[in-house]
Amino acid sequence: MAIIYEEATRQFHLSNNEISYIMRIMPNEQLGQIYFGKRVSDIGNTEKYFETIYRDMSPVVSQDDISFSLDQVKQECSVFGKGDLRQTAMAFTFSSGSHVTDFRYVSHEIFEGKKALPEMPAIVADRRKAAQSLWITLKDKHSQLELTLQYTIMADEGMIIRSFSILNNGSDNVELDSALSVNLDLPDSNYDAIMLTGAWCRERHVERFPLHRGIQQAYSLRGHSSHQYNPFLALIRPDGGEHQGEVIGMSLIYSGNFLGQVEVDNYDTTRILMGIHPTGFAWTLKEKESFQTPEVVIVYSDQGLNKMSQTYHRVFNNHLIRETWRKRERPILINNWEATYMDFNESQLIAIAESAKELGVDLFVLDDGWFGKRNSPQSSLGDWWPNPSKFPDGLERLSKRIHELGLQFGLWFEPEMVSIESDLYRRHPDWLLSHPSMTRSPGRYQYYLDLSKKEVVDYLYKKISLIIEGANLSYIKWDLNRSMSEVYSQGRLPDEQGMVYHKTVLGMYRLHDLLLQKFPDLLIESCASGGARFDPGMLYYAPQGWVSDNTDAVDRLKIQAGTSLVYPLSSMGTHVSAVPNHQTNRLSSLKFRGDVATFGTFGYELDSTLLTNSEQKEIKAQISFVKSIQPLLFDGTFYRLESPFSGNRTVWLVVSEDQTEGVIGIYRTLNQVNQGISMIKLKGLKESTCYELTCENYRERFYGSELMTIGLPVSGLFQESDFLSTIITMVEC
Ligand code: GLA
Repeated sequence: MAIIYEEATRQFHLSNNEISYIMRIMPNEQLGQIYFGKRVSDIGNTEKYFETIYRDMSPVVSQDDISFSLDQVKQECSVFGKGDLRQTAMAFTFSSGSHVTDFRYVSHEIFEGKKALPEMPAIVADRRKAAQSLWITLKDKHSQLELTLQYTIMADEGMIIRSFSILNNGSDNVELDSALSVNLDLPDSNYDAIMLTGAWCRERHVERFPLHRGIQQAYSLRGHSSHQYNPFLALIRPDGGEHQGEVIGMSLIYSGNFLGQVEVDNYDTTRILMGIHPTGFAWTLKEKESFQTPEVVIVYSDQGLNKMSQTYHRVFNNHLIRETWRKRERPILINNWEATYMDFNESQLIAIAESAKELGVDLFVLDDGWFGKRNSPQSSLGDWWPNPSKFPDGLERLSKRIHELGLQFGLWFEPEMVSIESDLYRRHPDWLLSHPSMTRSPGRYQYYLDLSKKEVVDYLYKKISLIIEGANLSYIKWDLNRSMSEVYSQGRLPDEQGMVYHKTVLGMYRLHDLLLQKFPDLLIESCASGGARFDPGMLYYAPQGWVSDNTDAVDRLKIQAGTSLVYPLSSMGTHVSAVPNHQTNRLSSLKFRGDVATFGTFGYELDSTLLTNSEQKEIKAQISFVKSIQPLLFDGTFYRLESPFSGNRTVWLVVSEDQTEGVIGIYRTLNQVNQGISMIKLKGLKESTCYELTCENYRERFYGSELMTIGLPVSGLFQESDFLSTIITMVEC
């Protein structure tokens, strides 16, 4: 791994065994992008790659060289207002009303490791894995703005981390109208785009389409990253797939409004922008104030989507998820939501906890309805104290009983919300995010609290801390059940309103930080009406997230497969729920439900007091099996071998780092009559190692080479009518 600056050619080369990222200082002293992709071992003067061509109508940098136009060169930091007439990463308005900047290279710094970002989640490069960073400083010729482009590369990972900061050294205020973290210009447009799209109960479905001229976007203006689009996009060569072809992926470490945009221009070059969505964003930079953008993790893979995913999984597992929970086995939990919804009493909960303990569960989670006067969604958000009608003596008795059973205790919170019908709103109506004299739009009877205000975060910190301490909680489920509208912070000046969307996200991060400083071992599971805020920003604080409110195992195959494009198995909250399924009404076997949930953090979402003896027996076996393989599932390399988006069968495989063990999950959504034998070709094994494959009624030995070239014959594995899934373990023999 190296970051090299060559003075003679004025070019930068960031490289490791996988990739090269090359840029140069252009004749106008701005940074130009030359290349991003597979490693280039030897590189000469890159001037020859510089796109100089005369085109009518394009403004040029100087009359002395009419072939150099910002409208066509590939850039690192595109800015609106000068010669680049495409959509740009940055835009400013000065007090004169001008938008013009002329950023010029001043200096750069190359250093070991990586710095943290102020107030925001970011990739952590600790001493265990070498990282190098490059910060390039540019100054605006016409103002006192100072721009720092930030890059990090790590040994052996096909990945670059990018962000920038902008500092106002002048005395006049400057408006930052757009601050997208990344501009990546590519020389052609021969790609398909891949986005993770969805809606409530069908999150992160993989959508692939050929790029076309013009603009295509993934975005959110909902105040959170959203069900609709994940803050991720990828470009893949048209002949690329899971295991072949070039892919460039971009994932934004941020949980609020975002934009991921691909623009194909009229010369068939491609510009990717990603960062905080400029709509609703206007940041005033006063004297000596700076703005830091969130990071984008840009991955390059020369072997298709699966290799891209493996890079994201390793980087997020090793450098984003908090060290306390990094790749660590997670408590098997039972959550009472689908068992009781809000209609429960203490003895019912204790009965569920007692029966769950018998099954081998580690953690009992009490979901919505335990606080304020909450018996329906119409009230009490913000009133974080025990509901007196359900817990007349507080939560201590329940907590004590749960702990006596040897279980850990967890609670549901929705910290960022307030109900009109709440003591909190009655005391602090100005804490509600809305204009006091304008109509506002309720969502699930609730509103956003103004977390851009320090006092609101401090209040929540105090209240939630009291409950965590009093009830001795090991876990909280941090939910969010509406999108933002009428975003207006009461008491703030007009020119501060454009900062509110982002400041609420920073406030939410600060609340996580405060709680985790006080309770470092607390396990937070993020949730947002299922998976509407499943993003790398949340992952930094919450090592697992509830992937979807849809607990139907068949639908979960797609949701989990799509999620795995970017996020590791250790981050996916996956539970077995009762049948008929509460969302789809579908019946599926307990085995199928368990086998699907195995590829995640695992838990139950049902009333364990209603289980039959044989179900109890089966669940006990499920839990002890999951516990035995979770270290491998979380630490190993994940392969998507067959996709639920393209057929009846889904196949997942995890292989241990030393290639001596593996787990295969095989699922069919429909049983089919009179089928032939088909082969599943495995990956990532050692060719001449013998592996023993085992599942119920099945034991067979293969060489790695056989499994990877001829394949695993699948026929007798599925014979009974509801036996539509199987999990096979493999060990070196
Ligand atoms: C959201 C969550 C659910 C549950 C309910 C409680 O919908 O996604 O899992 O916690 O809220 O109101």
